[in-house]
Amino acid sequence: MQFFIDTANLDHIKEAYDLGVLDGVTTNPSLMAKEGITGEANIRAHYKKICDIVDDKVSAEVISTEFDAMLKEGLELAAIDPKIVVKIPMIKDGIKTIKALSDKGIRTNCTLIFSPGQAILAAKAGATYISPFIGRLDDIGFDGMNLIEQIVHIYDNYGFETEILAASVRNPLHLIKCAEVGADVVTCPLSAIIGLLKHPLTDSGLATFLADYAKGNK
Ligand code: E4P
Repeated sequence: MQFFIDTANLDHIKEAYDLGVLDGVTTNPSLMAKEGITGEANIRAHYKKICDIVDDKVSAEVISTEFDAMLKEGLELAAIDPKIVVKIPMIKDGIKTIKALSDKGIRTNCTLIFSPGQAILAAKAGATYISPFIGRLDDIGFDGMNLIEQIVHIYDNYGFETEILAASVRNPLHLIKCAEVGADVVTCPLSAIIGLLKHPLTDSGLATFLADYAKGNK
């Protein structure tokens, strides 16, 4: 299972990378805005900074919504760095763009996936990754994890090579459930990765070990 961090915060990206468990980064226009990064040139320069921190797989999202503009923007984003994966929304022109970029050997991540049908279409177009959003489905009373299970089953049936990048993963439990059902990748905030470390019995056990060592080595 691969771990991507879902942020444009350079400190968080560095912290996750320094842990030695980070396989990639996802961003979106909202995450860029949250860091105060605005304007095309600044946003593209920020993508480059992210690429300079990590080894590979940095999703950079297009903001165009029509085929010609999306393709042009996708090619420009891909030219920033070989580590870029072009993130394309699940709309009709997005599917055409994924096919065109995929035919040119450019990696894509089809985002805003909320149904198995959308996942099938993106795989047929040759998306490298699809991003089904778990948390946002949970938010409106649907079972986000059930969508991941359905897509895993469908992709297994046909041997689709598109990787399932579980997105909108908000906490450690989401992450563990994704591992159980076989998502290829999870993308989540730093807090969800760090949350995996924590168990009260680990903390109390370590405190006891250290105290016993101290008693015997005065
Ligand atoms: C996916 O790549 C998105 O950036 C992200 O996972 C959305 O998460 P959110 O629903 O917590 O905003």
